[in-house]
Amino acid sequence: QKNGFDHFMLKEIFEQPRVIADTLNHYIDADTLTLRRDRMPFTRKQAVLLRQLTIVACGTAYHAGMMGKALIQQLAKVRVDTEIASEYRYSEMLNTENEVVIAVSQSGETADTVAAVRKARKNGQRVIALCNVIGSTIARETDAVLYTLAGPEIAVASTKAYSTQMLLFELIALDLANLRGELSDEDLKRHLTELLQIPAKMEQILAQKETVKAFAQSQCKCNDVFFIGRLMDYYSSLEAALKLKEISYLHSEAYAAGELKHGTIAMIDDATLVVAIATQESILEKTMSNVQEVRARGAKLLLLTNYPFEPPVGAELWNIPHTFDEFAPMLTIVYLQLFAYYMALQKGCDIDKPRNLAKSVTVE
Ligand code: F6R
Repeated sequence: QKNGFDHFMLKEIFEQPRVIADTLNHYIDADTLTLRRDRMPFTRKQAVLLRQLTIVACGTAYHAGMMGKALIQQLAKVRVDTEIASEYRYSEMLNTENEVVIAVSQSGETADTVAAVRKARKNGQRVIALCNVIGSTIARETDAVLYTLAGPEIAVASTKAYSTQMLLFELIALDLANLRGELSDEDLKRHLTELLQIPAKMEQILAQKETVKAFAQSQCKCNDVFFIGRLMDYYSSLEAALKLKEISYLHSEAYAAGELKHGTIAMIDDATLVVAIATQESILEKTMSNVQEVRARGAKLLLLTNYPFEPPVGAELWNIPHTFDEFAPMLTIVYLQLFAYYMALQKGCDIDKPRNLAKSVTVE
């Protein structure tokens, strides 16, 4: 039941601090600030020998996989490819020695992801699942399963499953980095200590829901929304644009901020809302210069950042509580899930059951 919330989606957005805490609790021993070895998918030897990871998934789970690619490459220095499962199953895949495949799926029943798992196993690869449903097909057919402890997700639009999938990638990336000698025990503890703060920081964002709602109401005439960002902020943009499309039917797109000027910027005018995400210090200034470009074309602007910025005149600013840059996407998305929800609410959409969509896509 909805526990007093108007929709399952809103309830599930608000459950995120708790399910993130539950998932952290399952994988981290908070007393010793270490990962529970028996719950992590790689031994030291497997981690050291690992040459390539391929992540397969669909939709929102695929976006979590893109985050996984960024995190694992950055922290553990392992090469990662992320493949859409419906493409992977039909394309020529060139296996690398000591390659491992990670399949990500909330339901564990998505037909294309099941087919990708079967293909990889037929090729003799070890397959690890990140999954939310115990005993599902993907959980049963893989060599190891890491469960997201998100609990049942009822709304068609995935929210809490996505944030727990990102969290599992954070943990895998940190563990691989430590086992491969890229991250000291002390630095691992520092990262785990910070991760344990994420639920409280999510609460701070949820407390801003009236600000998000008021802003969504002010955008009722908007016809197009462009989400822009670089690196992990680009991956957050992809997820934010999907969420907005699927529940509000509003046209939205995600762009790597530096790619706009190669064509798409032609579409931007004063009827466009641009949502810029800037949480990664290394490319902050680059994203901000793209923000100036869209402002010069008259776009309305919403800026999400965890760094101190003087927003351009007339722009809306949402502050993200400060955390390590690699953890910021787990906070960013909470604002953007709320934004999609309130946009859909004011359009009178059937939020928990959007048109043409099913919770679990078990046909090809
Ligand atoms: C979007 C959404 C879908 C699913 C996708 C994969 O909000 O829910 O894009 O993420 O259909 O589903 P699972 O994770 O069950 O394999």
